[in-house]
Amino acid sequence: MKTFLTIVGLLILSMAHADEGQDLYNKSCVACHTIGKGRLVGPDLINITQQRSQEWLVAFIKSSQTLIKSGDPEAVAIFEEYNRMPMPDNDFTDAQTLAVIEYIKRTSAGTEANGQTADAQDLLSEATDENVSSGALLFTGEKRLTNGGSACNSCHNVQDAQTFSNGTLAKDLTTSWEIMGSAGVAAIIEGPPFPLMTVAYQNHPVTEQEVLDLTAYLRSVSESSGNQAAESYDMAMAIFGIAAFLIIMVFIMIFYPQRKPSRVSA
Ligand code: HEC
Ligand code: HEC
Repeated sequence: MKTFLTIVGLLILSMAHADEGQDLYNKSCVACHTIGKGRLVGPDLINITQQRSQEWLVAFIKSSQTLIKSGDPEAVAIFEEYNRMPMPDNDFTDAQTLAVIEYIKRTSAGTEANGQTADAQDLLSEATDENVSSGALLFTGEKRLTNGGSACNSCHNVQDAQTFSNGTLAKDLTTSWEIMGSAGVAAIIEGPPFPLMTVAYQNHPVTEQEVLDLTAYLRSVSESSGNQAAESYDMAMAIFGIAAFLIIMVFIMIFYPQRKPSRVSA
C-alpha cells in the first residue's frame, strides 16, 4: 500500500511538473510559435532540441537579445531571418526553462512537421472593407470593444491618414502585419505575450470577430504605408519642381528688363 501511494504520489508530481512546462508554454510562447504547424511570428519549434544544444536553448529562451548582442552566430542568423523581430525575455528559473524545453521535446515526438507557414491558411481570405473599417473604429476606440478592453491606440500608434492615433506606450504597429503575417498578428491580439498588453486584456478578452477586424485593419495599414511613402515622395518631387520653376521665373523677371536697355544702347 505504501509503495502504491508513493508511486501515485510520484506520478502526480511528475504530471504536475510536465504541466508546468505546458502551462508556461501556453502562457508565454504559443502566441508566436507552433510545434509542427509551421512558422508563426517566430519559427516552428518542432524538434528544436535536436538542432540546438540545451545550453543554447536555455540562454535563448531566457534572453534572446543578450545572446544576440554577445554575437552568437546562430542567434544572430535566426534574428536576421526573422526581420530582426525581438523575442521577449522570460523571467524563468532554470527549472522552469527546462520544463518548457521538455514540453516542446515531448510534443515534437508526437507531431509531424508540416513544413509550411501557419499563415498559409489565411484567416483574412474572406475579409472585406467592412472588416477593415470596423477594425479602424475598434483600434481608435470610436467603437468599444465588446468586453470593455482598452482601445489599442491608448498604447499604440499607426501611420494611417484615415485614423487619429497617438499611443506612445508601445510600438508603432504600421509594419507589424508585414513582419509577422495575419496569423502572427491575430495570435498576439488573442493571447498577448507582452506583460503590459496581457494585463490590459486578461479580464477583457478581444472577441474572435474583433481579432479578425483588427487584423484586417492592420493589414490594410501595413499595405498602404508603402504607397503613402511613395505618394509623399511624388508630392515632394512636384513641390520641388514648382519651386524650381518659380525661382527661375523670378530670376528672369529681375534680370531680363535690365538687359533690354543695355542691348538697345549697344
Ligand atoms: C512575441 C513573439 C514571441 C514569443 C512570445 C516567443 N518567441 Fe521565440 N522567437 C520569436 C522570434 C521572432 C524568433 C526568431 C528569432 C528572433 O527574431 O529573435 C524566435 C526564436 C525562438 C527560438 C530559436 C529557434 C531556432 O530555430 O533556433 C526558440 C528556441 C524560441 N523562440 C523559443 C521560445 C519559447 C520557449 C517561448 C516561450 C517561453 C518563446 N520563444 C516566445 C518570437 C517569439
Ligand atoms: C496597455 C498597453 C497596450 C494596449 C492597450 C495594447 N497593446 Fe499591443 N502591445 C503592447 C506592448 C507593451 C507590446 C510589446 C511591444 C512593445 O514593447 O512596444 C505590444 C505589442 C503588440 C503587437 C506586436 C507588435 C510588433 O510589431 O512586435 C501587436 C500586433 C499588438 N500589440 C496589437 C495590439 C492591438 C490590436 C491592440 C488593441 C486590441 C493592442 N495591441 C493593445 C501594449 C499594448
